[in-house]
Amino acid sequence: MWRYRTLLPIAGDTPVPPLNPGGTPLDPAPRLRSELVLPNLWLKDDTRNPSGSLKDRPSNLAVAKAIEAGFDTVATASSGNAAASLGAACASAGLRCVVFVPPYVRPGKLAQLQAYGAEVLIIEGRYEDAFDLCTAACEAFGWYNRNTGYNPYMVEGKKTVSLEIAEQLGWRSPDVVTVPVGDGCIISGVAKGFRDLHELGIIDREPRLFAVQAAGSDPFVRALEGEPPSDREPETIADGIAGSSPRNGVMALRDVRRSGGGGVRVTDDAMLEAEMLIGRTTGIFAEPSAAASVAGIRRLRELGLIGDGDEVVALLTGSGLKAVDVIAGWKGRPEPIPPSLDAVRARTGTIRPR
Ligand SMILES: Cc1ncc(COP(=O)(O)O)c(C=O)c1O
Repeated sequence: MWRYRTLLPIAGDTPVPPLNPGGTPLDPAPRLRSELVLPNLWLKDDTRNPSGSLKDRPSNLAVAKAIEAGFDTVATASSGNAAASLGAACASAGLRCVVFVPPYVRPGKLAQLQAYGAEVLIIEGRYEDAFDLCTAACEAFGWYNRNTGYNPYMVEGKKTVSLEIAEQLGWRSPDVVTVPVGDGCIISGVAKGFRDLHELGIIDREPRLFAVQAAGSDPFVRALEGEPPSDREPETIADGIAGSSPRNGVMALRDVRRSGGGGVRVTDDAMLEAEMLIGRTTGIFAEPSAAASVAGIRRLRELGLIGDGDEVVALLTGSGLKAVDVIAGWKGRPEPIPPSLDAVRARTGTIRPR
């Protein structure tokens, strides 16, 4: 992502962490295209980042900004991916990392944090409680605050994904980008990237942005529909997009409305089915929160909000390896078979050799 450094708010001589995120593939996913009957579909595969999520982009910028301002400790609240990416970026640059995570943090993300040597504080309460405590701790102890929706540079780091998409399409904008939304910071970053390129005259239009949320945790989609906020507890397996009060909500509402897009809800089953569909048609393993962007495309097609000829980019924001426990719970474990050809034949339904 540092190839776009001149479009990032960072001084020319500031050292950046050596991890080097971004530069991820824009996959034409031919088999998924035919499965969804969407010939101009692309998958932006941000599962390929150093810690396995798009959050590596903002976290590496956060660490560079912390170095620039002379901090030695960086903190964040996170459902897991922002924390893991910050842990990795801090480890690579040699800074101390303190993270505030909710009790439902997935084992895969916690394991990453422990391997990266981050100091992990599991906060009893909701993500929002972890967020407020992190902000208070940064003020009290003089730590650099990476919190999403608080630190304005995070939108800037996230925008690099759009700079890449436009460049990979030959400096063009797609018609639509679908984005899984929790706090609404990724979707604002996506908007900002295309807006910057448009204002610079490098692309001639911007995409419609569609926010995808879990049916059991949909405050942003409700707000788009003009519903008042509710204090409902999130109920979803998609931990990355679970939340009751999006921390970048106001900016994201403006960005989505301005783009001419909208929002849709998808069920947990639809996300898991999309995760399997992406896996078996492309070989990419996405976590449920990320697969939401493909589940959302199905829903948008049903609603007639995406046309057959539209060029659509689905953002795959995090790796399935972070949430293997979810699949294990859903698919179960295959029963072992005896080491015999007969057993292989019976299990696979194979009748004769090719
Ligand atoms: C995999 C994944 N996708 C999407 C999101 C949503 O990003 P945002 O909270 O900026 O809307 C997250 C946030 O944690 C995430 O982990």
